[in-house]
Amino acid sequence: MKLFKGRVISFKDDSRAVDLPHGHILVDDNGKIIEVGQGTLPSGEFEEFDFSDYLIFPGFFDIHVHLPQFDERARWGKNLLEWLEHYIFPAESRFAREDVARDTARRFFDSLVRNGTTTAVVYSSAHRHATEIAFEEANKKGIRALIGQVLMDRNAPFEMLVTPEKAKKDIEAVASQWHGYDNRLFYVVTPRFAVSCSMELMKAAAEVAKANGLYIQSHLSEQIPEIEYVRELFPEHPHYTGVYQDAGLLGEKTIMAHAIHLSDEERKILADTGTKIAHCPSSNFFLHSGRMDMKSIEDAGLVVGLGSDVAGGPFINMLQVLTDVYYANRMSPIKAFYHLTLGGAKALGWDSFLGTIEPGKEADFTIVDPSSLISPDSELTDVLAKLMFLGDDRNIVATFVRGKRIWQRR
Ligand code: GUN
Ligand code: ZN
Repeated sequence: MKLFKGRVISFKDDSRAVDLPHGHILVDDNGKIIEVGQGTLPSGEFEEFDFSDYLIFPGFFDIHVHLPQFDERARWGKNLLEWLEHYIFPAESRFAREDVARDTARRFFDSLVRNGTTTAVVYSSAHRHATEIAFEEANKKGIRALIGQVLMDRNAPFEMLVTPEKAKKDIEAVASQWHGYDNRLFYVVTPRFAVSCSMELMKAAAEVAKANGLYIQSHLSEQIPEIEYVRELFPEHPHYTGVYQDAGLLGEKTIMAHAIHLSDEERKILADTGTKIAHCPSSNFFLHSGRMDMKSIEDAGLVVGLGSDVAGGPFINMLQVLTDVYYANRMSPIKAFYHLTLGGAKALGWDSFLGTIEPGKEADFTIVDPSSLISPDSELTDVLAKLMFLGDDRNIVATFVRGKRIWQRR
């Protein structure tokens, strides 16, 4: 058994937090939370983690991030389609090389855990082997991750294209080894977006996902030129969302990123199918994609988690993404942190065992030191606001997944 001591902070919903100064958490040997309390410590022999001067948060979720774009952050000056062509496709094509794939995957997952992210939903490159390497490195790091090979069969460099048949084979081979591994690593089928996928490829992706119980992710309605291009490519479809619906890609296990320029009808289709939204405000600002209106998304009843969208977004640190969450939509720090934690868990359908710090849930924690910004004993909303607007990697002390320390600052 493990005993964690610190100020325990967790979020019940978008307006209510639990705040336990001088709190403690008892975690069993399987990494499950047994007890959360305050004051009198439980008696017994425990391995102790003393974070008395720090804050213990539920682990942070980054539900949309691109591994092979890790070194392409800060590629400024172009719109989405130009940026993909000039910087991103050339960078991702280099993942045909094992040494590039290995070295980048190591640094990428190391950076995620140093920044407090305990669960990440990850786009790999178009290469099966690079995707296997990503799983291996995520496993070594101890992070929770959903990872998928990016699928494209048009409008991208020839060497990155795949046929529907090869896509199915690659997915089944990698998913058979990794989907559900240690109940911590999962396969997410990843048709890049409707611009670079034919209907046949998207249908094949949806089928293989359904047949094997895999997750699905893609990009939806991010930028006006992209949306116009989709309209040209699929003139018979009423809208962008209708293309994915027709392909069978929408559903409870699907995460669509951006979802900025949508009609009410499209939001309703997303909600009716149980599709989840990855809100990526740093990327939306960096690429000048537009502003996702949180109110209309919420009014439709959609579940929202947060994504860094590196390298569309420049920040791998989710506290920095929280600043942009506020710039995009004015909201309380409690609400922003709710989306970062329980919102992320809900987007994956994992809120029964993750996203908050409560008995029965798994012990994924991000330990935070706010002392460079504010006294750790300050009123909760003040502490959260300082972290939301001024926090970064320097505030992250340690990261735990299922009670196991996967990173600690020295
Ligand atoms: N749309 C299609 N591919 C991408 C990508 O890699 N990043 C972003 N932000 N949008 C995309
Ligand atoms: Zn993206």
